[in-house]
This record gives sequence, C-alpha cells and structure tokens, in this order.
Amino acid sequence: MKNKSIWSSENKQTRKMNQVSCEESDIVIIGGGITGVTLSYLLKDSNKKVILVDQGIIGNNVTSRSTAKISFIQRDIYQKLEKTLGYDTAKKYYESQVLAIDIIKGIIDDNRIKCDLEKSNSYLFTTLKSKENTIKKEKELLTSFGRECIETDQLPIDFSCIKAFYTEGNYTFHPVKYLNGIIDLVKDNINVVENLLVEEIRPEKSRYLLKTSEGIIKAKQVVVANQYPFFIKPGFIPFKNYIQREYVNAAKYKKELHFNAINVEKELHSIRFYKDYIIYVSNNHRVTNQLDTKDNYQKSRDDFYRLFKLNPDYNWLNQDLMTNDHLPIIGEVKKNLYIATGYNAWGMTNGILGAKIINDLLLKRSNSFSELVNPNRVSIVGITNSIIDSLSYIKSYIEAPFHNHHIYIEEESGIKYNVYIDKKGKKHRVKRKCPHLKCNLIFNEEELTWDCPCHGSRFDLDGNLLEGPSKKNIQ
Ligand code: FES
Repeated sequence: MKNKSIWSSENKQTRKMNQVSCEESDIVIIGGGITGVTLSYLLKDSNKKVILVDQGIIGNNVTSRSTAKISFIQRDIYQKLEKTLGYDTAKKYYESQVLAIDIIKGIIDDNRIKCDLEKSNSYLFTTLKSKENTIKKEKELLTSFGRECIETDQLPIDFSCIKAFYTEGNYTFHPVKYLNGIIDLVKDNINVVENLLVEEIRPEKSRYLLKTSEGIIKAKQVVVANQYPFFIKPGFIPFKNYIQREYVNAAKYKKELHFNAINVEKELHSIRFYKDYIIYVSNNHRVTNQLDTKDNYQKSRDDFYRLFKLNPDYNWLNQDLMTNDHLPIIGEVKKNLYIATGYNAWGMTNGILGAKIINDLLLKRSNSFSELVNPNRVSIVGITNSIIDSLSYIKSYIEAPFHNHHIYIEEESGIKYNVYIDKKGKKHRVKRKCPHLKCNLIFNEEELTWDCPCHGSRFDLDGNLLEGPSKKNIQ
C-alpha cells in the first residue's frame, strides 16, 4: 500500500523549469494547484509578464490529494446557504459551480488535454431515515434552479442507501494530468518556477517585493493561490474558517463504473471511480478535534474493508479549508494583492471559479460572482462557529498526543523538541512549536510528517516545509 494519492503516484512528469528573473513582472501567482495553473492559462495571451511559483513540484500538492470530482452536488450546500444567506445566494452559488464546470470542460476540450475527463452522474444520498427530508429539500432547490434530478432509492453499487437522487452535468478527471497538460500549454508564455519558497510579500511604492529563497521578485500584482495564504494575520481568515481532514482509500474494483456519490449526514461517505479503481473518502473531522492521526487512518482502512471487502492500494490524507459561511474566499484583499482559498472541499469547481474571478479582477473586467465570494465580506453566520474554533485552537496550543516510546518530547536549554525514532533507529528531532504561529506540532505516523493542527502546515521528518501557511522550515 502507498501512503500517497493515486494521482501523484502516477505523476511521471519531469520538466526543467525556468529560473527566477529579478526583473519586474506584471503578475506573480504563488501556488501551482488548480487555481494558479488555470489562472496562468487564462492569462497566457494577456501580454502580461507572468511568473507562476510553486514551493514544490507542480502536481504533488493539495490538488493532487483531491478526489477530483467536478460536481455541483456538494452535500446539502444549497439548503445551508438558503437557510443562512437566502435563496438568491444559494442559486447564485449553484450558478457559479455550473460556470466553473463549463470553463474547465471548455479548456480541456479546446486543447485536447488528456486528463481522463469523463461524464459522471452525481448521486446525493443518505443512509439514514432521519435525513430523507434533507435529500428531498436539496432536490427541490436544484429543481427550482432548473436542474433535472432523478429520484432513486439505491446507488449503482451495493451500498447502504435510504433515499437518493442523481443529476447529469458533472464530471470526474485526473487532476495531475490536467495540471501538467496546462503547464505544457503555457510554458512558452509564462515563467513557471518550481521549488521556490516565497517567504515574504512586502509592498513598496506601487508594487510588491517578494522575498524568495533565491532572491527578490518584483511584481505589480500578486495572487496567492495557496490553500492557506501565509501572509494572512490571525483575526482575518482564522476567524472565518477551520481545517477539515478526510481520509481517502483507493483500490482496484471488480468492474469499471462511471458515477460519483456523496451523502448528506455528518459522517462522510464519498465515492468515485477512476478506470477500474474505486476511491472512497470517509472519517472527516476538524483537525483540532482529533489530534491523533494514526487511529483515523486505520479506521478509514477498516471502513473501506468493511464496506467494499477491499484492502487499499492507496491511503492518503486530505486537508480542506472550510469556511464558516460555506462560501469560498476569492478576491482582492489589499490593493493588487489577491487570494483564492476556502473551497470547502470542492476545490475543483471553486478552484476554477477562483481562477476566473481573479483573472477578471486582474484585467479590470466585471465578474458577476466576485461579490458572492468577496474576502472582505462580513457575515454573522460564522460567528458561533468562529468562537468554537478559537477554543479548539487553544486546545492545540496546550495539547499534542505522544504515546509511545519512539515518539516523545525532550527538553534542552528550556526548549522543547519533538522526537521520532525511525525504524532504523535514527533520531529525528524538531522543535515542538510550528514556525507559523507556535501551535504544538503533532506526529503523523502514517505519512511520517510533523503536522500542525491549527492551520494545516506540514513538515517532513527533519522539519523541512511541505505545506504552508508556514513559510519556514522548523528551525
Ligand atoms: Fe499556523 Fe501552525 S500555527 S500552521
């Protein structure tokens, strides 16, 4: 079994990237996931001088851990939005997702990108009698938006289902093949730079100076398309979001199927197929609610076996930035500084939406969805959740589970260190505090990483940064 995603396991791409230039650029995009890469595509003929920077290898980051459903069926999102922000907001969000699906399909078709895009009916279902009305309500809303929904009481596989419906107009694909296909299309127009960490964004007169591990880049406009924009101070995004984890298992299935499904109850069951693989996501939780990851991986594998009689070929962890009002956060946060994040586990559609909105903002075009997802919106919807989150963060400042003899804490000169002794007896020691905002790091025994429960930074065994918002290795 591999502890990595099925998509990045298949990432055979090797490419020589351009070097950073110290000349002034028009636009720097930080983050080579679906948003940043699609935005580069949209900008490639704009006559702007664009640099796309990724701190690692494109295709090995957040997008590669997604299930890569391109779907507007997103659990009970429309009734949540209707209840809290009104019918018109729910409808507008639906329209934004349909637009995103049209855009990505258009890009893939127009350029014949070989990324295994296929039509996939999306099922919304429940395993509980008590949730029948939630299915009914979601179907009514979608029908009122003009979408045909076909009612059923079973899924196309043997899986518990009390009530369901499905819709057409949704897709699945291979996200890493898509990213690599786009990079091939843009590389003559856009300077694509991998393995470059942007450590600081500093305003200077009418432009920004980006301090990187290789020197300074100058830019008139900057787009931060990382999952958690590192420069955001506590009090802004942290009070609008939390990090959710889910566990993904994939194994060869007895036949090839072409649908995807997700349930409405709190305990997640998400299913899709890729060639002859079944991909199943379960065991979702706030990171701060369950600091110990080991049991969660095991539980996800046990569930996978219990439900499908399969042992996984791939088992990986996915992290999503969830917003308290259920809408993504996309737009300008300071003059000429843009972010796109908070995709609520729907990174493929919202990632494309983010690219489209930011492209329009950069080029001073209007976009009818930009107000819906404006990062500066104030909503009372999230206030209670924000208070709960703040309490959870406090817990992770004081707690971190270490429960066996090869993972422990030691102290030297008043500084606490986390220690892991690997299978060969080698000692890996890192400071206990996350370089971002000093939460206690926890150990991920499955993927052998130090993970931060507060905002999702991850580091390898020796403290090298794998995923932000931290912009530094553990010192
Ligand atoms: Fe923010 Fe660790 S404290 S990611």
